[in-house]
Amino acid sequence: MNNFTFCNPTKLIFGKGTIARIAREIPTGAKIMMTYGGGSIRRNGVYDQVTAALKGRGAVEFGGIEPNPQYETLVKAVELARAEGVDFLLAVGGGSVIDGTKFIATALKYEGDPWDFLLDPSKAVDAVPLATVLTLPATGSEMNNGAVVSRKELNEKLAFHNPKCYPLFSVLDPEVCYSLPQRQIVNGIVDSFAHTLEQYLTFDTQAMVMDRWAEGLLQTLVELGPKLVERHDRYDEVANFMLTATMALNGFIAMGVPQDWATHMIGHELTALHGLDHGVTLAIVYPGMMRVMRREKFDKLVQYAERVWGATGTPEEKAEAAIVKTDEFFRALGMKTRLSEHGIGQETIDFIVERFRKRGWNLGETGKVTPERVAEILRERL
Ligand code: NZQ
Ligand code: ZN
Repeated sequence: MNNFTFCNPTKLIFGKGTIARIAREIPTGAKIMMTYGGGSIRRNGVYDQVTAALKGRGAVEFGGIEPNPQYETLVKAVELARAEGVDFLLAVGGGSVIDGTKFIATALKYEGDPWDFLLDPSKAVDAVPLATVLTLPATGSEMNNGAVVSRKELNEKLAFHNPKCYPLFSVLDPEVCYSLPQRQIVNGIVDSFAHTLEQYLTFDTQAMVMDRWAEGLLQTLVELGPKLVERHDRYDEVANFMLTATMALNGFIAMGVPQDWATHMIGHELTALHGLDHGVTLAIVYPGMMRVMRREKFDKLVQYAERVWGATGTPEEKAEAAIVKTDEFFRALGMKTRLSEHGIGQETIDFIVERFRKRGWNLGETGKVTPERVAEILRERL
């Protein structure tokens, strides 16, 4: 097992009817800005619950943060927050609203152009405190310190981590997920599945607890996925999904293990260039990553096939089953897992590979996902 330090300071407040708790969790005297997306919270009653809880606190509001939050929108929120003297942010929404809010929180403590800390994330070191009311289980942003921000004019989608961006608390009420469109449920299942794989499907470090924990999350998603696609208004199923998504990217399964993240980095490019949903990009890239990196990931592929999919046969047969079963799982949820199914061809592959070359990116747990291999992975998914 590798050495590690673990600390996750986010307080989780989980369950039915818990949104009202925000009133006593936000420090008294804080000047609050509530941030949200395109309006789903107005239609499903979450806005009313949050504003009722914030009654008398004089909170400022900033709505309109879009999926794959845009830099141009977020800098407007920063201006408003500065003008109003905001010193506490409450994000109410999915990963995009939460990530956008982490950007706002960091920018409020940053002198200079905030795009700087996306180009050089080591500059993201301070932030005003933030908290979240999560409405979409997927990203884990409610309990981690990462964020991804897009800039349309540059066709860029870049990530940063800021040690000060762990939410102070996050409220997870599974009932708010009943209003989610089915497409977002599927995105969330694939995203949390991919987060788990990024921290599991690497090479063996004898991290037995982390392996079993990750396999537990994957098995839960395999079991719940088809049920959630059928309907997502059964409390315990949604509650288990919501907790799985949080646990998949809050650092718990990262203890003592190597991490990959190459699929995510390639996926971000597909979103930046073609606007595909984040979950969709992962469903396309992951089976290709497994196939092209089969030798490097062999032992873990076999273990994943045995323990998650119950595969039998020779190790080679099991590794093959792991790849096929993953693709089939995503497709059974309703994902299109081929680039051509999204009208994407060789031109995009060339663009991404050239961009990674210029950035000098060699990705993956051992840096072996070179631009050439990225080309192979994407060609495999045409
Ligand atoms: O904007 P509104 O109107 O709220 O609608 C949203 C949005 O259209 C809607 N929605 C959310 N909750 C709802 C709801 N509709 C009905 N009922 C509800 N309860 O769903 C749509 C998608 O929301 P979005 O926040 O974009 O989805 P998601 O949570 O999947 O977030 C995706 C973003 O997170 C980033 C992705 O790259 C992408 O930009 N990620 C963030 C990570 C992190 N911070 O750790 C890690 C991930 O790997 C990921 O990269
Ligand atoms: Zn993700």
